[in-house]
Amino acid sequence: MTLAPPPSSRVQLTDDGKLRHFLSVEHLSRSLLEDILDTAASFVDVGGRAIKKVPLLRGKTVVNLFFESSTRTRSTFELAAKRLSADVLNLDIAKSATSKGETLLDTLRNLEAMAADMFVVRHQDSGAPFFIANEVTPGVAVINAGDGRHAHPTQAMLDMYTIRHYKGGFAGLRVAIVGDVLHSRVARSQVHALNILGAEEVRLIGPRTLLPVAAAESLGVTVCHDMAQGLKDVDVVIMLRLQKERMDSAFLPSEAEFFRLYGLNNEKLRHAKPDAIVMHPGPINRGVEIASEVADGPRSVILNQVTFGIAVRMAGMSMAISGQESSQNPEQGDQHGR
Ligand code: CP
Repeated sequence: MTLAPPPSSRVQLTDDGKLRHFLSVEHLSRSLLEDILDTAASFVDVGGRAIKKVPLLRGKTVVNLFFESSTRTRSTFELAAKRLSADVLNLDIAKSATSKGETLLDTLRNLEAMAADMFVVRHQDSGAPFFIANEVTPGVAVINAGDGRHAHPTQAMLDMYTIRHYKGGFAGLRVAIVGDVLHSRVARSQVHALNILGAEEVRLIGPRTLLPVAAAESLGVTVCHDMAQGLKDVDVVIMLRLQKERMDSAFLPSEAEFFRLYGLNNEKLRHAKPDAIVMHPGPINRGVEIASEVADGPRSVILNQVTFGIAVRMAGMSMAISGQESSQNPEQGDQHGR
């Protein structure tokens, strides 16, 4: 008996299981996540070429719709689209007609009238990219660049790429995710991706106030409130920023107290394996969740995550456009010749 796929899969996959929107890692198959990582690997060297371009999205128009601030995600999506030879439109939301009361749907319809082929959406409301994906004209792809507390799938996939690059794979791997997990869309997507890709153990470390209730049962993770215990023998340490913009009450006594208990410095890092890597999705807050001696130290791969992000976003964008094209013209193979 074939079970109906969960709703998020139905929206983001074609009938034959190809990506056509990239909205969430949850419910995607291991083979599809590995396909994204392998496709990204084929794009990594483009950034080192004299002419940093491949023609896969030539003639396509990508619209960046960022309703929340961003440095890394927005810039790397723009570079990824340009390296795929797409035309890129960055709508400045602060100066757009959104400030005159135009609805999201009307903004979308007007941008579609300019023949957009893809929307890259960051929004403060969880579910906004799903809403857009359900509303766009068939053939138009939507990529989630972070929605509320819900998901940040391309960040999770660039993190998976980084882990695979440095650790060779996920079998037997212990990964600690430390800090404000409760408010983190990145952590949610990372946990799903690590579980799908077969990591041995995912540990969430933080104060009770900053970890989701019943995380162990609902997310299939180990929960720790002590750094020495939680970091013991891990292969990867992922630090998270305190997301104060999403906190509606006092979750902590003070930042200094948080740093004392959960901030990563060299002393606490000694509990991890000697070859453990340190990651952070950025932006980092030095002296709050991470000390400069670690952020700038030899085990930090934080800036490498950013670099890999371009290739991973190239993969997500090109696969979604291919999926849209194959569902519009089922006779055609995709742009990778599959
Ligand atoms: N990691 C991340 O999403 O960073 P930005 O907010 O700068 O895009």
